[in-house]
Amino acid sequence: MAAEMALLKPISKFSSTSHGFGSPRPYSKFYVINMSSATSQNSPKPKKAAKTGIKESLLTPRFYTTDFDEMETLFNTEINKNLNQSEFEALRQEFKTDYNQTHFVRSKEFKEAADKMQGPLRQIFVEFLERSCTAEFSGFLLYKELGRRLKIMKIYSLMLQKTNPVVAEIFSLMSRDEARHAGFLNKGLSDFNLALDLGFLTKARKYTFFKPKFIFYATYLSEKIGYWRYITIYRHLKANPEFQVYPIFKYFENWCQDENRHGDFFSALMKAQPQFLNDWKAKLWSRFFCLSVYVTMYLNDCQRTDFYEGIGLNTKEFDMHVIIETNRTTARIFPAVLDVENPEFKRKLDRMVEINQKLIAVGENQDISLVKNLKRIPIIAALASELLAAYLMPPIESGSVDFAEFEPQLVY
Ligand SMILES: [Fe+2]
Ligand SMILES: [Fe+2]
Repeated sequence: MAAEMALLKPISKFSSTSHGFGSPRPYSKFYVINMSSATSQNSPKPKKAAKTGIKESLLTPRFYTTDFDEMETLFNTEINKNLNQSEFEALRQEFKTDYNQTHFVRSKEFKEAADKMQGPLRQIFVEFLERSCTAEFSGFLLYKELGRRLKIMKIYSLMLQKTNPVVAEIFSLMSRDEARHAGFLNKGLSDFNLALDLGFLTKARKYTFFKPKFIFYATYLSEKIGYWRYITIYRHLKANPEFQVYPIFKYFENWCQDENRHGDFFSALMKAQPQFLNDWKAKLWSRFFCLSVYVTMYLNDCQRTDFYEGIGLNTKEFDMHVIIETNRTTARIFPAVLDVENPEFKRKLDRMVEINQKLIAVGENQDISLVKNLKRIPIIAALASELLAAYLMPPIESGSVDFAEFEPQLVY
């Protein structure tokens, strides 16, 4: 996965303050103490911050869990005759090739670039690395567990059932990729004298439960939108090297191919489950997930325009490009997508940004929580109404239930 992120605070590397999970680690070089907000490098009150805990919002990156028993049934080759094992075998070989095995090698440029970065840009870069690392790590956890669960043999009514070792291995190989991505981003944080404690994250984050069908929609979109984000940033910086302020972006070209392959694998998984793609409910859910993913990205990025402007991008133009391209890619497999190229869709997104800004302003003022909640009601109603209007815009019928002609496209 690649699309989303989370926040942490730096702490003096000599402090032995516990971060709330187990004993302090006095010999550890870096600490992660919470994820409530990004602060300057000299955060003065680590103890207070440690008590604050994790502040979650609708826009923070999520960790997902699912019904693993249902997943086992879906991919059981004895039960599901739609599983095209030769296609999965081909995908497994491709993942085993491990094109990026030697890609993620750092150079001394990283630390030098981080040291040069000061002030607000430095802070916003740290946040970018944290959120990206969290999103990649979220993919790692989900794929690792799916790999583990689909590999084992299970005893039902004294019958020994194999699930799907080929699909299981692909999940494990994808978790390898995501671990590599998360690790590379975390190394980037070390250039800023920070580190995300991934063990802490594993225990501390709330997990969002999605049924397998929804995991497919959400994860497919997350991988494809991640691909389009990375490749767009890469191409932009290649054309405008004066904005190449930190070398991590040079790695995005090969990196994003991992995300593209992950998305193609989910495409193959969905083809193997046509019941998730070929009825009216599938169309409604497809549109719902497209809308959720696009709006979340747009609102998140519009809160962080400093970052995108810092690398020479216009945030809204960048996001619309990513949304349009992701939507075109998604239309190859989802039975319905949103008409994001209709100018009205962007107008609605922009109104949501304005409403979201009002919501943030209410959260930041000094009112007591009752007053804040009362003030939030009409704003949330306005946001919900805008979301509903966007959802109800005439959709684009897409995908195909005749999957024979569909082949995943790798973009190189
Ligand atoms: Fe990734
Ligand atoms: Fe991925």
